[in-house]
Amino acid sequence: MIEISFILNRDFVTDQVPADMSVLEYLRDVRGLTGTKESCGEGDCGACTIAVGTLKDGDVTYRAVNSCLLPAVRMHGRHIVTVEGLADGDRLHPVQQSLLDHHGVQCGFCTPGMVMSLFCLFLNNPEPSAEDTALAMDGTLCRCTGYASIQRAAINLTEVLRKTPTDRPIMPAYFAGVRKQLGHAGSAPTGSNGNALRWHFPRSEAELWQTFNLAKDPADRLLLGGGTDTMVALFDGHISAKHAVDLTGIAQWNDLRETQNGIHIGSGVTLSELLQNKLIATRFPALHQCLRQMCSTQVRNTATLAGNLCTASPISDTAPVLLVYEATVITASRDGSRRLPIQDFFTSYRHTALRSNEVVKAIEIPFAAGWSRFEKSGKRRTLDIATVSSAIVLRADGSNITNLRLAFGGVAAMPFLSREAATYLVGKPLTETAVERAASAAADEVHPISDVRGSAGFRRLLVRNHVIKHLRFFLDERSSHVRK
Ligand SMILES: Cc1cc2nc3c(=O)[nH]c(=O)nc-3n(C[C@H](O)[C@H](O)[C@H](O)COP(=O)(O)OP(=O)(O)OC[C@H]3O[C@@H](n4cnc5c(N)ncnc54)[C@H](O)[C@@H]3O)c2cc1C
Ligand code: FES
Ligand code: FES
Repeated sequence: MIEISFILNRDFVTDQVPADMSVLEYLRDVRGLTGTKESCGEGDCGACTIAVGTLKDGDVTYRAVNSCLLPAVRMHGRHIVTVEGLADGDRLHPVQQSLLDHHGVQCGFCTPGMVMSLFCLFLNNPEPSAEDTALAMDGTLCRCTGYASIQRAAINLTEVLRKTPTDRPIMPAYFAGVRKQLGHAGSAPTGSNGNALRWHFPRSEAELWQTFNLAKDPADRLLLGGGTDTMVALFDGHISAKHAVDLTGIAQWNDLRETQNGIHIGSGVTLSELLQNKLIATRFPALHQCLRQMCSTQVRNTATLAGNLCTASPISDTAPVLLVYEATVITASRDGSRRLPIQDFFTSYRHTALRSNEVVKAIEIPFAAGWSRFEKSGKRRTLDIATVSSAIVLRADGSNITNLRLAFGGVAAMPFLSREAATYLVGKPLTETAVERAASAAADEVHPISDVRGSAGFRRLLVRNHVIKHLRFFLDERSSHVRK
């Protein structure tokens, strides 16, 4: 068992938890806090959403997180807020009251997660736009009794807060003491779960290599970024590794900064931090568009870009984007660091070029040499894996295309860098005929499989349509630029 200290709603708690227990299980089965619901147990519905407060640079920042994907050990040193922690005695929290007043209350399973999602939204942004509200609700799947009423509740709450900002604040009064209390949580949790699983939380590279000394056989190690891909298997007992190595505590690997040539993204940086980053929004639009459509708010608040790449999934949304941006993956091992061009990182289905003693410590993306865009086709706009995704970087000199990089997810065993459209287009003017021919060239080049998300033929058609859409967007933007 592993000893952890944290704040649970109003109370400072010290407790022992096994390494393979989820926060959801802890809240419901150990603490009896059944307001947090379990439905899918895989991050897909949002019923289990809680707010997690993390102390960073003297401030506590709250984020909506799926408690079914979060290991209980990660509560250590944090403020865990459940739906029971919002009301003030009999007085409902303003978010709850507004949902009630505007008929935004859904079924008993979904409502607590929606309340927590809106709570986190308003805590961080008291005047959200309709788009901000929609984004915050993207991880709470079902709105049986109406999405418009949730939007109305959010609009009303914004107006109430604007008129009376101090009367009924979003932040419960007891949060005032949380920052000081979190400082008393003590050092990082490490420990074992009987003989089955040991949890390691290295704070530096040196400590990571010490951990590797203990866990000599790579097959015994479970490397963890956000854990959104791995945790379900762990909680279900499908992982035989004896050492869980949590990489998110290595401070040097959590940096996100502009460099002379582009951007440096540490392996611990979450997808939400990337989505909120202004440099990415302005200089890497395809990555911003991709992040906006990926996963859900709750998953993005935990998952990392490094984790998304290391899954080497053929339908990873970020992989095509990083392929067209010509990113570099920076690895670390006891023997030193390597810089791998992203096109050499994926080697086969779900395999990467990482050596058994290596981890990813950062990803670097150079400023794009041209216009860029991302496109994703799936059954839903968010919370859905793509049937086909694609990214493009394009440069033109006058009317002639001088450079084109195009990559796809969902069309091969690995993320796929297309060559044929570029071979056809570079050096030519982008006419309607050229657009059609380039789209056909890209479609002829891929050999997708048929599965539940779409047949091979449908995927090939999507490839063709993605190319046409990208190129038409480029032409439209260029002509509106010329008109200005
Ligand atoms: C509900 C839901 C929706 C999703 N929707 C999408 C989607 O729309 N698009 C999409 O592309 N993906 C989607 N995913 C997958 C998700 O993006 C990935 O789970 C996430 O990006 C993985 O990041 P992580 O930090 O949580 O990885 P983890 O789960 O921590 O790790 C994933 C893998 O990478 C390895 N790893 C992690 N970090 C490192 C490192 N630094 N060095 C070496 N190995 C490492 C781990 O050992 C593991 O094998 C979804 C997942 C869920 C649960
Ligand atoms: S129970 Fe569905 S997201 Fe956690
Ligand atoms: S199932 Fe809960 S709102 Fe639809």
